[in-house]
Amino acid sequence: MRILFICSEYEGLIKTGGLADACRGLASSLLASGHQVSVILPRYGALYQVETTAADSVFVELGGRTLGCAVRNTEIAGVSVYLLEHHDFFARSRPYDDGEHGYPDNPLRFAFFCKAVLQWCTEQPAFDILHGHDWQTAPTAYYLTNNYRQHPKLAKTPFVFTIHNGAYQQQSEPHWAEQLDLPLDGNSVNFLQIALQYATKINTVSQGYRDELLTEPAANGLSAWYQQRQQDFSGILNGCDYQQWDPATDTALPANYQAADLTGKALCKQQLQRDYQLAETDQPLLVAVSRVTGQKGYDILIPALKHLLANYSLQVVIVGSGEARYCQQLHQLTVSFADKFRFIEGFNEQLAHQVEAAGDFFLMPSLFEPCGLNQLYSLRYGTLPLVRLTGGLKDTVVPWPDKGATGIGFTEPTVDALQQALRQALALYQDQKMYKEVQQNAMAQSFGWAEAAKQYLTLYQQARQAV
Ligand code: ADP
Ligand code: GLC
Repeated sequence: MRILFICSEYEGLIKTGGLADACRGLASSLLASGHQVSVILPRYGALYQVETTAADSVFVELGGRTLGCAVRNTEIAGVSVYLLEHHDFFARSRPYDDGEHGYPDNPLRFAFFCKAVLQWCTEQPAFDILHGHDWQTAPTAYYLTNNYRQHPKLAKTPFVFTIHNGAYQQQSEPHWAEQLDLPLDGNSVNFLQIALQYATKINTVSQGYRDELLTEPAANGLSAWYQQRQQDFSGILNGCDYQQWDPATDTALPANYQAADLTGKALCKQQLQRDYQLAETDQPLLVAVSRVTGQKGYDILIPALKHLLANYSLQVVIVGSGEARYCQQLHQLTVSFADKFRFIEGFNEQLAHQVEAAGDFFLMPSLFEPCGLNQLYSLRYGTLPLVRLTGGLKDTVVPWPDKGATGIGFTEPTVDALQQALRQALALYQDQKMYKEVQQNAMAQSFGWAEAAKQYLTLYQQARQAV
């Protein structure tokens, strides 16, 4: 099959979170199973250094204006990647926001992206599948149905839409409807809703989150749409790219290791302690790497950590960037608990690998989690995930003391429940024999992309029959 991914992030080019990893992991796996995969994404400011071939020019009509762009080509690990260049819209340093607020012209930027991609498709050898990811690509569903079905190259092409995060919908003022030739949903234009209504098939990145989206509050107001498309709406668990995330081969680590010999893991812990001036003890080291947002549970994590740091012997290292209100509190914890807490603010991929390897537990008390990739990395790195049992976390972590436990889990999104889980983690760590058993279970888990790719291929076939 000739498959085109339409997306806004791709690991190795531009990344703000798991979307980038998921797009690359799935594309690579589909390629490995013999399919022809191309990817198209905006050429952000950071991508002007990427070497590309000569450009195709594309022009589209949008809200009564003619807008043009150039489409350039490059390659990432065998996958052909197209970069759609429109200087005014995309040559900014960050893809969607200025660090705190979304860009006000996001509806225009991404509606243009979607329409220009379809126009470009009419000038390429036909694709069998268009596969869009998240709200940035949602208008494709509407433009395909309303503006491009008469074109022979797109007459029978399905649009499969994957929701990586249903909380980001890009809901905008009604005036955008006319400016972007998009339909209204009540008194707003809601990009995610448009895809739910018009995509050929819809899926999200775990079965657990799929079920949650059928009801409120998880659906953020769109439950009726999810229910309406229930027959066309599935859950396919993400995979883990073990080429990039394997402690036995990870080149970012000071020492490599595997389940049979964890000497290297102890060295990784020591090195991180040394790098961040923490005592080189064998006290439990709790780590997190995440976007610092409400989704990731910082409202319960910060108070729970305050209590824990004041009362127990342990160390905590958090790497992340995001909302200022949480970052300030985390910096404050570094001041209050200088001997045991570090917050390293920023986006640092190398450090993310080192922290994964160094920790004894990985904290993911998410309020919701469509899939979550960090817990999958943590399992393989023998860093027991401590998770709230929601969405994809519930689907991938077996909480101690259940049979075959691979981590720690809790259910209620409260400080109390999280504190209890943290105490459980410390108790498990005290019992080294038991801890090591859980660690071995964790490291033996396998969530490769091959299984996901197989399920997407079935979904693609169903989508082709549905057009
Ligand atoms: P989400 O996509 O909701 O952010 P995931 O667990 O699916 O959550 O994926 C997050 C990805 O982003 C992981 O690869 C993680 O290592 C990476 N990441 C998040 N924050 C940072 C950071 N500050 N520095 C480096 N990598 C980060
Ligand atoms: C989103 C979700 C995360 C998921 C990732 C990749 O950012 O928040 O749970 O793992 O996309 O699908």
